[in-house]
Amino acid sequence: MKVYGKHYRTIWIKEGDPNVIQIIDQRHLPHKFIIEDLSSVEHVAIAIKDMHVRGAPLIGAAAAFGMYLATLQAPQTTEGDFRQYVLGAAEQLRATRPTAINLLWAVERLVDVIEQTSGFDAKIKIAKETAELLADEETEACRMIGEHGVTLVENISEQKKGEPVNILTHCNAGWLACVDYGTATAPMYAAHDRGIPVHIWVDETRPRNQGARLTAWELGQHGVPHTVIPDNVGGHLMQHGMVDTVIVGTDRTTYTGDVGNKIGTYLKALAAKDNNIPFYTALPSSTFDWEIRDGIKDIPIEKRDADEVKYISGLHDGEIRTVLLTPEDSPAANYAFDVTPARLVTGLITERGICEASEEGVFGLFPEKRKNK
Ligand code: MRU
Repeated sequence: MKVYGKHYRTIWIKEGDPNVIQIIDQRHLPHKFIIEDLSSVEHVAIAIKDMHVRGAPLIGAAAAFGMYLATLQAPQTTEGDFRQYVLGAAEQLRATRPTAINLLWAVERLVDVIEQTSGFDAKIKIAKETAELLADEETEACRMIGEHGVTLVENISEQKKGEPVNILTHCNAGWLACVDYGTATAPMYAAHDRGIPVHIWVDETRPRNQGARLTAWELGQHGVPHTVIPDNVGGHLMQHGMVDTVIVGTDRTTYTGDVGNKIGTYLKALAAKDNNIPFYTALPSSTFDWEIRDGIKDIPIEKRDADEVKYISGLHDGEIRTVLLTPEDSPAANYAFDVTPARLVTGLITERGICEASEEGVFGLFPEKRKNK
């Protein structure tokens, strides 16, 4: 997508220096656009953990590039030393954040190709090629999510006789959360680019405000009409006919259709159900967990530092400042994700098409994943 008119992805190998990965450091957006160099697996692990990069597909892509950097750093003394280093790096990356399954999926894919290749140079080459391929495939999956999802927006637009389609979204499931296009935002961008009028209600998404800071910024960069709302407003808007559909992303969705996503998503789904408003989740297949059926029981929910709730940051006199919001001594709880049960999800928008949020629906689109279930 475009930033100040120039096309960017969220992660890439530095031009002229294949030992360095570059990312957009999202901690500074929307106020500062800063590109950060990552030159070791430790740097990548910190960037994921401290959310310089975030969003499930991007966490996966970052981990893949991290594994490539690990092959560059690995000692070439013996096969065993090299292998031990690479497996240690995989462990380090896996431990950064628990909820997005894309992380485990990407690390696994890189470990597999590195293990299956002989020779140090060949291992480095295959790791680089696979990380780049993974980023390209995720980009294409998001583009296809846009192609399928736009039909839903088109239908509503026709019913509304061309009046703007009001879409509510939560967190940032935009191109900043992916490699490009976004998941939830892909149908929005596709609709906007086709001249279908859309207007996006952007949940601010406390405590880290990914909606207010990131989704609002990227929609603005692309010229998509949007309004930032506090997290509690969605239900009211739905009751008054001001939301036509909800589209969110996900960090891990079970093969039965339970959706793990940013904290607060569940409440939006409940309100949507109560108001008969379709609630869609957009995801590339890398975000499915093919092993677990009960999302509430089995999707690991990240708990982050209480200070993310207690403090808030923003621009003041040209500088980003952080201020205390709560009484200094009040404890705070920071659950980063929740699970929306499949029964509240109208459908899943994937790169292969749109399906029901159910085992039948998911395996209908991905029959090769059915195994012995
Ligand atoms: O904590 P974050 O910012 O990494 O959480 C991101 C989300 O919850 C997104 O909705 C999700 O990763 C979907 S990304 C296309």
